[in-house]
Amino acid sequence: MKDLPKLQKQALEEIKNSKDLETLESLRRKYLAKKSGLLTQIIKELPNLEPEERKKTGQIINQVKLEIEQALEKKFGEQSTINNQQFLDVTAPGVPVPEGHLHLITQAIREISVIFERLGFVRRRYPEIETDWYAFEGLNMPLDHPARDEWETFFITDKIVLTPHTSSGQLREMEKGELPIRMINISRCARRQSDISHVPTFYQFEGLLIDKNISIANLKGVLTYFAHEFFGPDREIRLRPYDFRFTEPSFEIDVTCGLCLGKARLPDGQGCRYCRSGWAELGGAGMVHPKVLENGGIDPKEYSGFAFGWGVERTYLMRSGVNIPDIRLIYKNDIRFLRQF
Ligand code: PHE
Repeated sequence: MKDLPKLQKQALEEIKNSKDLETLESLRRKYLAKKSGLLTQIIKELPNLEPEERKKTGQIINQVKLEIEQALEKKFGEQSTINNQQFLDVTAPGVPVPEGHLHLITQAIREISVIFERLGFVRRRYPEIETDWYAFEGLNMPLDHPARDEWETFFITDKIVLTPHTSSGQLREMEKGELPIRMINISRCARRQSDISHVPTFYQFEGLLIDKNISIANLKGVLTYFAHEFFGPDREIRLRPYDFRFTEPSFEIDVTCGLCLGKARLPDGQGCRYCRSGWAELGGAGMVHPKVLENGGIDPKEYSGFAFGWGVERTYLMRSGVNIPDIRLIYKNDIRFLRQF
């Protein structure tokens, strides 16, 4: 029992010098643990003492135990983060977890799909890597045809390319042998170009409708419906004669400018900042060439159809109120830019 003062001194010393919560906890166990604690060991010896002695020693032990406990508690309080300096208010509202959203082009792709699905078009996705046949030859552009130059194609081998336009999905859809066809193919394309209005990989959406007695009027009707749904009822489209090898006749589709609404002048009389003519170019369209129908196994005497293919990014930029000066911003992954959409 004479060890008691020594033990007390040692314990208080060690507690005072402990540097972290873990050491403190191990000290608590060292002295006070139910079975193995050093103080507990001494308490266990009490019954062997004379009654007088036992009473006195018991009182001392209690005192020592109390002091060790108090020293521990004080030190715990100092070292834990929940002390006087750092008050934790458990009733304070939590910090909201940042919430993301879909990329603007994913949103646009979904919106475009829904608009065409309402007209009975079925969403398709065709390969991002293609054979020369589906991308060019089967679309009436034989090897060495100069029209191919316009597609700025990435070649993997002589006969395999990164899909340069979604028109390659036309023949793939026809080959399924199910008529009539109403497809909306939205897939990734690639071309060797990068500037403020081009990115090397982008998305196109390609509509293809093949049935009996299909005319340019049907094409214009579908595209006008799309323009009113996607851009708003105050926007109009026009067909401008053009030339594609896989459609005849062919057109470029223009939409009225989102700022001046086709007037080329702003309400204050000034010329429109965005367009010179009141119109902005969206992309190509036309009546499917008889040769292409044949390549797809469809009889051009019985069936006819139209196709159109536009860039998703470019189409999105033509929306009223969207003011993106450089198309490449869309894929820079700058969160400050993406947050706005
Ligand atoms: N594929 C053409 C392009 O990428 C667009 C187009 C599609 C034209 C369908 C006519 C018909 O420029």
